[in-house]
Amino acid sequence: MAKDLFKKCREYSDSADARAQGFYPYFRCIEQSYGNHVVCGGEEKIMIGSNNYLGLAQDPRIVEAACEATRKFGAGCTGSRLLNGTISLHNELEEALAAFLGRESALLFSTGFFANQGALAALTEADDFILCDRENHASIIEGCQVAPAKLVPYRHNSVEALRNRLKRIPQESGSLIIMDGVFSMSGDMADLPPMVKAAKEYGAVMYVDEAHSLGVVGPQGRGVTHHFGVNDDVEIVMGTFSKSFGSMGGFISGSHEMIEFVKHKARCFIFTASLAPAVVGGVLKALEIMQSEPERIDMLWKNTRKMHEGFKSIGFKIGSTQSPIVPILIGSEAKAFAFAQRLFEEGVFAIPAIYPAVRYGEAIVRTSFMSTHTDEDLDKVLYIFAKIARELGTFDDPAYTETGRRRNVFDFALPQRGRSEEVRGDSGDTSRNGSELHAAFSR
Ligand SMILES: Cc1ncc(COP(=O)(O)O)c(C=O)c1O
Repeated sequence: MAKDLFKKCREYSDSADARAQGFYPYFRCIEQSYGNHVVCGGEEKIMIGSNNYLGLAQDPRIVEAACEATRKFGAGCTGSRLLNGTISLHNELEEALAAFLGRESALLFSTGFFANQGALAALTEADDFILCDRENHASIIEGCQVAPAKLVPYRHNSVEALRNRLKRIPQESGSLIIMDGVFSMSGDMADLPPMVKAAKEYGAVMYVDEAHSLGVVGPQGRGVTHHFGVNDDVEIVMGTFSKSFGSMGGFISGSHEMIEFVKHKARCFIFTASLAPAVVGGVLKALEIMQSEPERIDMLWKNTRKMHEGFKSIGFKIGSTQSPIVPILIGSEAKAFAFAQRLFEEGVFAIPAIYPAVRYGEAIVRTSFMSTHTDEDLDKVLYIFAKIARELGTFDDPAYTETGRRRNVFDFALPQRGRSEEVRGDSGDTSRNGSELHAAFSR
């Protein structure tokens, strides 16, 4: 008798259980978006769970550029870049990005996820090594799994750990060091200068994922490589349009010959349709605005500093963030969910992040801020956080730090909601579905 592939689907109840308990935080439906505010269930919420750092996703000039591109080229390109899917806007955007970042060439991918996966898979071979920061984004981890090279994780942002790994790599092998420029959960910045130095000493290639740093860090938002003045020492810079650019899609950039190779080898570039005209037209306009309106980045940092200080003054731990991503350390997963639910009820849209998106026992409510948040928005957010902290407390040392204790993703007791019983009883094995659902969503 053949194995029933759908048995696990019938038995899956993590999300239904969480919904029944009233704290399911995912797939919240947005009925209208104004950027800093959204409407859910007919009620306006302050949005602090988005990566729309410069508020460009709703900019009328970008919306118009997207419409103009649609009128000229149609709703889609209906094919791969390699075949019938290249329009003049794709080439224009690649040239504009390369010029903006001071690199020879750039190559667009349909998502940032594909950019990481495609580049890592195309550029490495079985006898190569990828040295990967342990807190890198899921698309990088996924890329490492698809790539033929061996994966060597190293301690988060530790050049000492990186050097220890580099030392052990056989001389005849190639090595590539990859890291987020700004880390998507902790909000801290890669310590690039010593990493670049180590890479040079060992002949390794540097690859920086600037998803959360473009439009945020460095002159005119050119990212961490420019911020640290090491752009010429980093061979590959990757980025996405799904954050500051307010759209979707991704790219890699570097030498002509590297790009020429990847565009003929990366399967998730070749075997997928190219970015829609509306997306490319909108991103070109966003890039123009990013450069001509630097006051947006100034405003983003003004808001960021206010929130770093504001959260600390209430008594929250915000880790080592150096960016508009501000993780509110909550500790126990139960409380992170309860906290996010209370925020939503009070009119604030923010998302909890739990293992494996963050380490066990370090569940957070991930907040991120925009240039378009007003002082009134931010003061209200701080007021509501303080109010909920009085109800639930701030950091909570959780059961999850107990050694050897591993539970399911929604397997905990909810505090302060009159339900102290276990939400799920089968704490023995790991709920991969729930964890993966969360990981996929939260990073
Ligand atoms: C650091 C990092 N890299 C890559 C990606 C993937 O980008 P995209 O949303 O364009 O697929 C993300 C998105 O969350 C990210 O945070």
